[in-house]
Amino acid sequence: MLGLYSIKNLRISTCVLIVLGCIAVLQLLLLYGSYNYKCISKEDIGKYLYMYLNPKVVKRLDKPACDYEMVYKQVHKDDWSIIEQSNQFDPSGIVNGSFVPEDCNPQLSIAILVTYRNRQSQLDIFIPFIHNFLRRQKIHYKIFVIEQHDAKLFNKGLLYNVGARQAARELFPCLVLHDVDLLPLSAANLYACLLQPRHLSASLDKFRFVLPYYGLVGGVLALTTEHFRQLNGFSNKFTGWGGEDDEFAARIMDHNLEILRFPPDMSRYTMLVHQQAPVNGQRFRLMSETVAAQDGLNSMHYRSVSVSQHPLFTLIRVVT
Ligand code: BGC
Ligand code: MN
Repeated sequence: MLGLYSIKNLRISTCVLIVLGCIAVLQLLLLYGSYNYKCISKEDIGKYLYMYLNPKVVKRLDKPACDYEMVYKQVHKDDWSIIEQSNQFDPSGIVNGSFVPEDCNPQLSIAILVTYRNRQSQLDIFIPFIHNFLRRQKIHYKIFVIEQHDAKLFNKGLLYNVGARQAARELFPCLVLHDVDLLPLSAANLYACLLQPRHLSASLDKFRFVLPYYGLVGGVLALTTEHFRQLNGFSNKFTGWGGEDDEFAARIMDHNLEILRFPPDMSRYTMLVHQQAPVNGQRFRLMSETVAAQDGLNSMHYRSVSVSQHPLFTLIRVVT
């Protein structure tokens, strides 16, 4: 009785405040899980690393093996020095977008695949930033920019398929699928494949550093070239913004593969601001219709592809 009496005496504004307070507490509790998403511990990373080198890299007997524990176990602060990095860029060691460390023998080779169209200002920031970031990691890597060279709706899945095929031809064992507008902030975020697919951009400023859902693989994803082939790559049916990554996550789960992640403090990224491309309103219908990875690497349709070498990346142009 007393409870009812006191509620009646509360002012409406106080009631609204109490309700809002309850919602805020509930939200915090709900988000807690996604701030601290399930991930592998720093100590275990070594056990999961997919240590493969491109056979074209020449080993030098006088040099030690590069040490990756030094990279992922380092104590670090987020690096926000984005603009300075692209202004004072020294390209030493980079040939056609590829880099091999000088002072040690790399144990890891990765192909970075960047799908692209008409975002010159972002590419101008991304390319120097990522070279500076990756050269410190003592890995062998090569950057491929895959550009859709037509005015049709953007087909990111098809571009990744084309890029993965080129990287496989060049004997890269590991692919990192990378949005051009995402920049890693933690130097400890070693760019490497794990034994299972790995989502790198799990802690993104755009999402207030919360992982929105477990199956998100958009942004930056690393997986072995062999897994990409087993999954039949991406569906080529998703055009415009969204969905192709969710459909790819469904392929990963259908094949009983796991999505692994590094801890949140190592997985932080910032997103460069841009206008969003037209959203694909059909993406949920398309997803429900796509059957068990039937469409993909085996069913790509495009009119032409050219591959040209630029100093800081290899450009693959696709007319869809
Ligand atoms: C889209 C994905 C996107 C995700 C996060 C989903 O609704 O289908 O493509 O990566 O949102 O932005
Ligand atoms: Mn984006």
